[in-house]
Amino acid sequence: MARITDRTILIVGASSGIGAEVARHLARGGNRLVLTARREPELTAVAGSVRAQGSDCLVVAADALDPRAAADVVTAGVAEYGSVDVALLNAGQGPDMSMDQVGVADVSRIMALNYDVVVNYLVPLIAQMGSQTGGGLIAHTNSLAGLMGIPRQGPYSAAKAAARTLIDSARVELAPRGIRFTSVHPGFVATERISGDGLPKPFQISQERAARYVVRALEREPAQAYFPWQTATLVRTLRALPTPVSSLVLRKLASP
Ligand SMILES: NC(=O)c1ccc[n+]([C@@H]2O[C@H](COP(=O)([O-])OP(=O)(O)OC[C@H]3O[C@@H](n4cnc5c(N)ncnc54)[C@H](OP(=O)(O)O)[C@@H]3O)[C@@H](O)[C@H]2O)c1
Repeated sequence: MARITDRTILIVGASSGIGAEVARHLARGGNRLVLTARREPELTAVAGSVRAQGSDCLVVAADALDPRAAADVVTAGVAEYGSVDVALLNAGQGPDMSMDQVGVADVSRIMALNYDVVVNYLVPLIAQMGSQTGGGLIAHTNSLAGLMGIPRQGPYSAAKAAARTLIDSARVELAPRGIRFTSVHPGFVATERISGDGLPKPFQISQERAARYVVRALEREPAQAYFPWQTATLVRTLRALPTPVSSLVLRKLASP
């Protein structure tokens, strides 16, 4: 039984993976979905299955790295449906990258792909939700990798940590205005994009299962949601250990 019904929901990064799967889940609730990403044909295909399940859907192809384009997506959603009640900021990417092989530009690019894409939507969404009755929910697909420096994922871990901190501040500031924030932190998810990166993926879960966790977080609105429990426990344990011990374990886990 769908719990999120009759809402306008913006999903940024809805053309594949977790975002596309969440869109298909939310389609069962008779919602109005605004789907965005760069690849229009993929978005159109997701929109087709959303409409087939009885939800209305607007597709806007846009690059989240462009602040003007991101603001225009929010404006287009409001023009079509009158408000944005829920937003899932899901765009992001974490390629395998060792610190002795990256250039400065690589690190900046990963920061932009995982942090700027959040900021570019956060700002216009806060303005919009602050002006509408009932505020709204802004959720972000973070990562358990954002909770500590993961080997070969350093720039990605750093970018996700920055996004979490920014959202943590916004949550405290904007609660009185009815704007709520949820950061979801998945472990490894078997999406197409990461299937061939060669990294070990302990406790990997399916895209479908990840989407169910994300939808549950959108329903319950915790400040932070961590899943699956096995990876979340592993990360919590590593954080509690003395650094020399956790470094040793991480090095072992990261070796192919
Ligand atoms: N898979 C995992 O193991 C895992 C684990 C933890 C967290 N996450 C996070 O989950 C989120 C979704 O990733 P996924 O695994 O489902 O991979 P994915 O299939 O590659 O999904 C990424 C989505 O973001 C969109 N996107 C990327 N850059 C964009 C940009 N500049 N502008 C607009 N849209 C952009 C992509 O669409 P276009 O290419 O069409 O633009 C796609 O729809 C990411 O934030 C990722 O960091 C994934």
